[in-house]
Amino acid sequence: MASPFRADLLAGKRALVTGGSSGIGLAISKSLARHGALVHILGRDASRLARAQADVPGASVHPCDVRERDAVARVAKQVADAGGADILVNAAAGNFPVPFSAMSANAWDAVVGIVLQGTANVCRSFGEQLKTSKGNVVNIVAGYAWTGAAGVAHSGAAKAGVLNLTRSLAVEWGPDVRVNAVSPGPVEGTEGLKRLADDLGLRDDLQRLVPLGRFALADEVANAVTFLASPAASYVSGACLVVDGGQDAMGPFGPVLAGGR
Ligand code: COA
Repeated sequence: MASPFRADLLAGKRALVTGGSSGIGLAISKSLARHGALVHILGRDASRLARAQADVPGASVHPCDVRERDAVARVAKQVADAGGADILVNAAAGNFPVPFSAMSANAWDAVVGIVLQGTANVCRSFGEQLKTSKGNVVNIVAGYAWTGAAGVAHSGAAKAGVLNLTRSLAVEWGPDVRVNAVSPGPVEGTEGLKRLADDLGLRDDLQRLVPLGRFALADEVANAVTFLASPAASYVSGACLVVDGGQDAMGPFGPVLAGGR
C-alpha cells in the first residue's frame, strides 16, 4: 500500500517495536522505517527476527521475551547505548480462543504475562530514555478490552490493563512523553485472524460484523501507529485510536438494522 505520509515524517527518530517481527508488529516496523526511523525489533523467535531484519531497512534485532524483566532491561541498555529510543511500540501479544472455564492457569499466565506484564516491563525499562528524548509510546490493544468477549478472557483482561496503563502513563509522564493506544479490529494475514476466520470457519460471520465490510490490512493499522508516533499527533496523549472499520460503533443491534446487510 502506498504511504499517505511524507517519506521523512520520522527522519532521525529511533524506534523500538516489540513483537515487531511478524503480523501487525512487522507492518509497524516497516512503516516506521519507511518514514525515516531507525528501528529496533524485539521478538522471541530468532528465525522470524532474521527474516524481519532482511525486510526492514536498517533494523537491529533483539531476541527477547517481554516477560523476562532482566532481559528486557538488557535490551533497553543496548538501545540506550545505540542512541536511545524516541518511539516505543508495544505490539508483542499472545492469544488463543478458549473458554475461561477450560483455560488452564498456565494459559492465563502466558497471555497476561506477555500482554500486560510484558508491556509494563518494557515501559519500565524504556521510560527514562523516552523522557530524555521527549518521545512517545503506542500500545496495541483490542476492542474487547472495553466490551469483553467470549473465548478471550485472558487477552481481554490483559488488553484492558494495557489500555488503563496507557492512560495512567499519559498522565504520569505527561510533560515529556505522549502515550497512546491503537485498537485494531481483525487484521488480514495475522495468526489471530487465521485461527478465528480460517481454522474455525468464521470468516463470513466475522466480516458481517464490520460496517466497512472487510477486515483491516496490517498497513492500515501501521498507518494509525505512524500517525500517533509522529509530530502530526503532537497534542494527542492518553488517546485510543480505534481502527476497526466501524465495528465498535455498532452497539446493541449489531448489523441487524443496517440496510439489508
Ligand atoms: N488452547 C488452550 N490452551 C492453550 C492453547 C490453546 N490453543 N495454546 C496454549 N495453551 C496453554 C498451554 O496448554 C499451556 O498451559 P498448560 O501448561 O496448562 O498446558 C499454556 O497455554 C502456555 O502455553 P505455551 O505454548 O507453553 O506458552 P508459551 O509461553 O510458549 O507461548 C503463546 C504462549 C500464547 C505465545 C503461544 O501459545 C502461541 O504461540 N500462541 C499463538 C501465536 C499467537 O498468540 N500470536 C499472537 C496472536 S494475537
